[in-house]
Amino acid sequence: MSEVAKLILDGKTYEFPIIEGTENEKAIDISALRNQTGYITMDNGFLSTGSTKSSITYLDGQKGILRYRGYNLEDLCENSTFLEVAYLLINGELPKQDEFDAFSTRISRHTLLNEDFRKYYDVWPKTAHPMGLMSSALTGMSSFYRSSLDPHDPAQVEKSMIRILAKVPTLASYAYKKFKGQPFVYPQNKYNYVENFLNMMFSLPMEEYQIDQDVVDVLNKLLIIHADHEQNCSTSTGRFIGSSHANLFTSISGSISALWGPLHGGANQSVLEMLEAIHRDGGDVSKYVKKAKDKSDPFRLMGFGHRVYKSFDPRAKILKNSCDKILKKLNVHDPLLDIAKKLEKIALEDEYFVERNLYPNVDFYSGIIYKALGFPVNMFTVLFTMGRAPGWIAHWKEMIESPETKICRPRQVYTGATERKYININKR
Ligand code: SDX
Repeated sequence: MSEVAKLILDGKTYEFPIIEGTENEKAIDISALRNQTGYITMDNGFLSTGSTKSSITYLDGQKGILRYRGYNLEDLCENSTFLEVAYLLINGELPKQDEFDAFSTRISRHTLLNEDFRKYYDVWPKTAHPMGLMSSALTGMSSFYRSSLDPHDPAQVEKSMIRILAKVPTLASYAYKKFKGQPFVYPQNKYNYVENFLNMMFSLPMEEYQIDQDVVDVLNKLLIIHADHEQNCSTSTGRFIGSSHANLFTSISGSISALWGPLHGGANQSVLEMLEAIHRDGGDVSKYVKKAKDKSDPFRLMGFGHRVYKSFDPRAKILKNSCDKILKKLNVHDPLLDIAKKLEKIALEDEYFVERNLYPNVDFYSGIIYKALGFPVNMFTVLFTMGRAPGWIAHWKEMIESPETKICRPRQVYTGATERKYININKR
């Protein structure tokens, strides 16, 4: 007999099935609750509500575990590449050599943007934030690449997936070049995925751009670290949009918009801006820790806290360990790193943060490394977008292929005015 949860409501007992995952996580399946009892549940921000079963990524917030398709993040950062991890997330298994070669060749065939699409950048102001550009560019792709929009045709879905993975680096580098007022750089198939992105970002017509393999290695690791994170805000947004059978391009556009928020992916930019503000203000870290604890002050310690991790974010651990090494390799000394370490030390000893389990998250160190690699602050969340694209795609594919998927349409408890009659304006 499978386990059940009993609920006593208005003197009646109801039973609801318990479901259990492969890592012994348990959930009460309440899908029949409203039909059986007339009640719904309420869970602002979904702190205790699951939206789906998924076999893509496993997190353990207490133990600080993050696995993609069963492989530990640390293992993948040490031994894999971002493109191989993208294949793993989307297909569920690590590729054999011929499978990987076919995958990366297909991607290299789609890195070019339609020349008319390039004109799309002309109408944007140079001061535009690149995340706005990226989000609308993804929806724009559904107009330029109309041959692969059908969410029920696996061949069309696969073509859209390849087009997104292939063109996001091109779109991102063009956004940067627009902002810098420099000429766009076409993709070059002689480079691998990360090398190609760096070349499109930083090469200039006057001189040959030297690819630094140390930078390639670090960027691969950063992109792997950001590749997926189960049902976070932006991933859930993409699954929500796709549940209406909207196409993959426009679903990913919605994910990019959600990621832009400073409480989510936009935090990596906010962390740098916070560290720079502390640096400009003389580096008095304790003053900012005090502000973060003051309920009357809207200031939060950006890069701290997480909905799931109530101990160290394993990604922050990897980035913190590699931060020193990377900056030394790149011969960069950044005073913001010293401020970050001081901030972390004070916060981790302060009971406000300890009792709320507020630890550094993935965004706390990533910005310092992006800056050392030469990226401007307004490109940090675009780099997060590039990293998270395979995760969003994998979840969208899992959703659209699942026979259990229904259109996402939550219920509510109405708290507005009860019935009342219309009153003519001359009588109000
Ligand atoms: C990402 O979900 C994911 O997986 C996301 C992500 C991914 O890979 O997709 O991991 C990426 O988004 C990382 C998070 C980046 N955001 C930030 O660094 C912004 C700063 N952090 C927060 O605003 C906050 O911690 C959240 C948004 C990350 C989590 O918020 P929750 O889970 O809704 O927690 P909460 O806001 O209810 O906070 C609980 C308590 C509150 O205090 P009390 O009301 O209990 O007194 O902790 C406090 C909060 O005020 N708090 C903070 C704080 N974060 C939470 N206080 C000061 N500084 C902070 N950063």
